[in-house]
Amino acid sequence: MNILVTGGAGFIGSHTVVALSEAGFTPIIVDNFSNSEISVLTGLEKILGKKVRCHTIDCNDAAALREVMLSEKIDGVIHFAAFKAVGESMGAPLAYYRNNLGSLVTLLEVMLETSVNHLIFSSSCTVYGETETLPVTEATAVKPAASVYGNTKRVGEEILYDVAKAHPLKIIALRYFNPIGAHPSGLIGELPLGIPSNLVPFVTQTAIGLRESLTVFGNDYPTKDGTCVRDYIHVMDLADAHVAALQHLLVTEKPSLYDVFNVGTGAGNSVLELIQTFEDVSGSTLRYQIGARRPGDVTAIWGDVHKANNVLGWKARRTLREGLADAWRWQQQLGARNK
Ligand code: WQD
Repeated sequence: MNILVTGGAGFIGSHTVVALSEAGFTPIIVDNFSNSEISVLTGLEKILGKKVRCHTIDCNDAAALREVMLSEKIDGVIHFAAFKAVGESMGAPLAYYRNNLGSLVTLLEVMLETSVNHLIFSSSCTVYGETETLPVTEATAVKPAASVYGNTKRVGEEILYDVAKAHPLKIIALRYFNPIGAHPSGLIGELPLGIPSNLVPFVTQTAIGLRESLTVFGNDYPTKDGTCVRDYIHVMDLADAHVAALQHLLVTEKPSLYDVFNVGTGAGNSVLELIQTFEDVSGSTLRYQIGARRPGDVTAIWGDVHKANNVLGWKARRTLREGLADAWRWQQQLGARNK
């Protein structure tokens, strides 16, 4: 079956392309390369031993999207394409709403026009905001998002809920926790353009000498060691979850469906625990200092993943150590090349 992967040259998208291909699907990438590099396609070809078809398309371009849907005989879509920088989104709300929500609406319209009715949507645990009840389940109240980026995911889910009620579409939204790591080959991985905002690429860039030192954003939180707690999930486990969700949609008898799943490990680690694990895995001492809290950070969040375990038959298998080891191998392969 032919699966369209929008944003398929990105971090999670490219790893999902590997998982799809290895599960017997034919992934076809559409990407506008606004936040990814064409070199990812070379990495994918080396891993898979074959070329992955890719169309340079912006998902706001309905005509181009429709043409690919028809010419590639698409059976289902996994939609990653979106802007995803939390901090950037606060200064550019209209660009984020236009791009993230506009492209989702365009994609849905084209899917209806071309009778493609299976969709996996990339959502985020950020929709839960700051919450007392941990771990969060899919029934945990969704809060007004702390960032414009998070709001595009929350509103995106609401759009999908309404559209699946009105049309014969089968849709699953996956709420990711914190994706880390890289394919064990070291041929693809996270490619943050500019200064990384996420923790793990900043850690590996500091360890390789690209960054002077890491700032830990606050150690006065009410957690075991004062630093924030997150559910760090290996990107290959996350990729496998997309395949499991797609397979679930394909066997669903119902004419339409909208469902949501947490995709995490089910456990939380603090920033300091992650640093210590990285030092152990890399055999290096990381230069870091404690700084001020970062506005918008939640104290702690990790997921209850029983629903995905039971309904999708999916469970994260890789450890934090493996994720950090794979991220470090990828960074060493990249070298100190500034992105
Ligand atoms: C993790 C922890 C920081 C950098 C965001 C989005 C989420 C998803 C993943 C897109 C926090 C601390 C970080 C640094 C630090 N993105 N940190 N020093 O904010 O949990 O989640 O990225 O889908 O939707 O919200 O991830 O990696 O930025 O931060 O101390 O230089 O690391 O304070 O506690 P976050 P993160």
